[in-house]
Amino acid sequence: ADGARVPALVVGTGYGGSVAALRLAQAGVDVHMIEMGMAWDTPGSDGKIFCNTTSPDQRSYWLRTRTKAPLNFFLGFPIDRDISRYTGILDAEEFGGITVYQGRGVGGGSLVNGGMAVTPKRENFAAILPSVNADEMYNTYYPRANAGLGVGTIDPAWFDSTACYQYSRVGRKQAQRSGFPFVFVPDVYDWDYMKQEAAGTVTKSALAGEILYGNNHGKKSLQKTYIAQAKATGRVTVSALHQVTSVSPAAGGGYTVVIDQLNTTGGVATTKTVTADRVFFAAGSVGTSKLLVRLKATGALPNLNNEIGKGWGDNGNVMCGRANHLWDPTGSLQSTIPCSGIDNWDAGGAFAEVAPIPTGIETYASLYLSITKNPNRAQFTWNAATGKVDLNWQLAWKQPSIDMAKTIFDKINSKEGTIYRTDLFGVYKVWNDTLTYHPLGGAVLNKATDNYGRLTAYPGLYVIDGSLIPGNTSVNPFVTITALAERNIEKIIATDL
Ligand code: FDA
Repeated sequence: ADGARVPALVVGTGYGGSVAALRLAQAGVDVHMIEMGMAWDTPGSDGKIFCNTTSPDQRSYWLRTRTKAPLNFFLGFPIDRDISRYTGILDAEEFGGITVYQGRGVGGGSLVNGGMAVTPKRENFAAILPSVNADEMYNTYYPRANAGLGVGTIDPAWFDSTACYQYSRVGRKQAQRSGFPFVFVPDVYDWDYMKQEAAGTVTKSALAGEILYGNNHGKKSLQKTYIAQAKATGRVTVSALHQVTSVSPAAGGGYTVVIDQLNTTGGVATTKTVTADRVFFAAGSVGTSKLLVRLKATGALPNLNNEIGKGWGDNGNVMCGRANHLWDPTGSLQSTIPCSGIDNWDAGGAFAEVAPIPTGIETYASLYLSITKNPNRAQFTWNAATGKVDLNWQLAWKQPSIDMAKTIFDKINSKEGTIYRTDLFGVYKVWNDTLTYHPLGGAVLNKATDNYGRLTAYPGLYVIDGSLIPGNTSVNPFVTITALAERNIEKIIATDL
């Protein structure tokens, strides 16, 4: 409520924020979580909380009047459609050279993502977080994160027989014929539930095309794991449709936090001010970076150091599709939950997820989201003229990602006698090089913060989300974000409270 004083305020309800809230509450601290997106706990007029990927309505996008689907063309025809402006679940946030997709709502990215829960190979960890003790991460914090998130793996026998992973089996066959390691990728989707979907005994979600705009069943989003546990302590409250706009030192100690309560068309219904002894920035890489860069530049937190806003990367994301021969159909029924990847990280700098195209019809296409060792890093800066935060990413900076992904797909195409699809992202466009699902960095650990996420110029202010990670995790990022948050909050609880 307006004027309240809270011991701990968490900005954002994604992975970092949920870990912080749970562990603080378990340590006896009352926590208030502030989330700009909706609660996503109430069904719409169709009886469902989330809308389907194939029939997006106002629930699909954050304050847009037209959808902006990552796979935006089919057979050369655009598939985006008009929707009404609403505080929907997926934000396609546009910067100069890149569109950054993010989840909006209680649960953050866990509401919209594929649930792929990948722990990086240990030999790659030193390049991901150089100042962090790898033994501690692999012995304690990665296992803790995997347990907290409910990570599981597909039953290999079921994988081999089910129609809904034919597309992955085609991916495996072709990867292996070209000599690439094929790996199963763990996920937080309930694999037993998916088996029951295939058997027709439960309501379908992954097998009904649900993913980008939310899964109504089966996926263990943060609402079902960390946030549910946090709420069960009785010490955590969550305010949805509330956006933090300012944090500054309060006269009597602690921090003054200004919060806009939003209505569902994005307008400000009312503005509230609370005082918090501690503030945890968990608004995601883009959200936290934008807040901190603006608060430093506009004088609310002038003593933040000069690393704020730096070290942002796209986890090397790039997408492409391949056209298979007529004797290699990928299946009309495709689970939206990817379960496999092609690992050419060491030799070619690319790890490619075998991704679904859940259209319900046979496409003969294989789709891949590659994570690559792209070295380019961008910076967020305050633009006083527009009153916004800019990101200086350049479209051309994706070229290294394309080159690395080609180390896999040029070889597969040549071995199979196949070609790239040119009709999935535009007219005659092979590479989707204009987006990322995996924003990372902007308040890098041990640079913008100390080695545990403390903003040391301001005791009681912390960063605890993907902005701590300097641009790349070599695999999908949320397990690493969660594990790092587990490590940092344990230290903070032990030494700062
Ligand atoms: P996260 O973005 O999760 O949460 C931040 C929260 O803060 C959001 O809910 C936001 O609305 C809120 N917020 C922002 N500013 C605020 C403000 N000023 N006030 C209040 N609230 C504010 N990763 C992976 O490992 N496996 C996968 O399969 C996928 N797949 C995938 C698909 C798609 C479509 C997307 C968009 C993303 C993925 N990801 C993924 C990426 C993964 O979801 C992402 O890395 C994490 O959600 C990031 O976690 P954070 O805790 O950093 O922030």
